[in-house]
This record gives sequence, C-alpha cells and structure tokens, in this order.
Amino acid sequence: MAILGIDIGGSGVKGAPVDTVRGELLSERIRIPTPQPSDVASVVAAVAEVAGQFGDYERVGITFPGVVVDGVTRTAANVDKSWLDAPAARLFSERLGKPVSVLNDADAAGVAEVAFGAGLDQRGLVMMLTFGTGIGSALFLDGTLVPNTEFGHLELGGEDAELRASDRAREQEDLSWEDWAERVQAYLRHVEMLLSPRLFIVGGGVSKKADKWLPLLDVRTPIVPATLLNNAGIIGAAVTAEQAAGHPGAVPVEADRPGVVGAAVGDRKS
Ligand code: BGC
Repeated sequence: MAILGIDIGGSGVKGAPVDTVRGELLSERIRIPTPQPSDVASVVAAVAEVAGQFGDYERVGITFPGVVVDGVTRTAANVDKSWLDAPAARLFSERLGKPVSVLNDADAAGVAEVAFGAGLDQRGLVMMLTFGTGIGSALFLDGTLVPNTEFGHLELGGEDAELRASDRAREQEDLSWEDWAERVQAYLRHVEMLLSPRLFIVGGGVSKKADKWLPLLDVRTPIVPATLLNNAGIIGAAVTAEQAAGHPGAVPVEADRPGVVGAAVGDRKS
C-alpha cells in the first residue's frame, strides 16, 4: 500500500502517494490553498481534504514550516501561532486514522534531494536551503540529517535573515535579481563562515529560476539548484514516514501518548 506525502506550505497544501524506492510521485499531486488564517483546526481539515482525494494508503508523512520535535510543532514563524506546542502528529493521525510522521519542511526537501536529487552520494557536510516565504535549512553529514536546524533565522544586517533574503522579501520589496542576489550572497557567506559545508543545494519555488540568480553569486562553496523542485517536500515526507515504519520504537496509531503517534523525524537516527 502506498505512503502519502503531504507538504504544508505558505500558500498551498500539496500531496500525493509516493514511490519511496524511486523517489517519484505515483499519481498527479493535489493542491489546495493553505487556509488563512492557518490555524491548527483549519490546516488539519485541509490536510484531510488532500488525503481524502487518494485511495487507501498505509501511512502519511507531513511537512510543517517550523521546528518539529517528537511530532510536536515548536515554532510558527510563518503560520498561525496556534501551532506553538501543538501535538501535530497526534492530531493528524487521529483525523486520518493512520500513523503519521511530521517533520520540518526544509528537512523533508533535503531528505528527498539527498536520497534522489542534487545531494545524491555526497559525503561530508551538505546544506540544503529553501528560499520561499521564509528561509529553511536542512543539514546533512554523510547523508544523515541533523534535524531542525534553523539557519534561516541567522542575523543578517541586524535583521532576521529570512526577512531580508527570502523570496518573499524579493517579491515584497520588488527587488531586482541583482539586488536580491547581493543579499543572498551576504547570507551564504555568513553561513559558510560558520559551517564550511561541501555543498549548498538551493530549493524553494525560486530555484526554478536559478539561471537568473545563481550565476550572480560569488561564494566559495559549490552551489547547485535542487532537482526535485516542487515535489521534494512530498517525497521527503513519505520517505521519512516509511523509515518511521521500520523503527522499533514506532508507536501504533491507537497509542494514547501525545506527540508520539507513529514516529517523528527526531526518532530517525537511532
Ligand atoms: C521556519 C523554518 C522553515 C522555513 C521554511 C522558517 O521561518 O522557521 O522552520 O523551514 O521557514 O518554511
């Protein structure tokens, strides 16, 4: 039976069943607008609406645009504040009647890129950065995820970096590619000074237009666009859900333990 991947983004909730061996969608994805306000109850309902479009599935991986520890959402920079400390995995699991894994959106995209895309077979420290409504980060050492890094919130020019260098900042301030790339470059130089990664993988919607801004960047670290584009989150979420299924500590859906229904991404490494 298939595993469903669902990606909760700033503008859309997208989902599809995933072939987790090949890293491909098994059918066309479904997208509905992210509810506004994006409070817990509305987003859970939207996720159920997307899931309801598909036939039977075994389990579900869901991305969230914030920190997720043991299935509990800990931050909510770009979504409704009702997500702070919400037992997300339990809520989704109760609604869908299936085991659910919840993980950070950039982590999910990175998992997919490292398994099937631009980060395939890359050793050492690899950093995925997503430029969208915010800036998401996913850090991998020899292919293993260090979950919940939040390098999008580094300070840049006295401000939260994502307020200056996200794709939303580019759009809102109507920046030219040159002006935006200057900010992105300052940001990437700061990140490489701190971490010296072997490779940057850049994702998010703006990575589709990588030819417009990647050539403008002067950084020491090799930098490549993500290759799975819009589907990386869906695929990475499903892969994580599948890994959780094989985890000896995975708790069945009936379990009455807040936040640990199924298994969360934090469980993946043990
Ligand atoms: C959040 C991250 C998220 C990123 C991209 C940031 O504001 O803090 O957790 O990965 O946005 O959605």
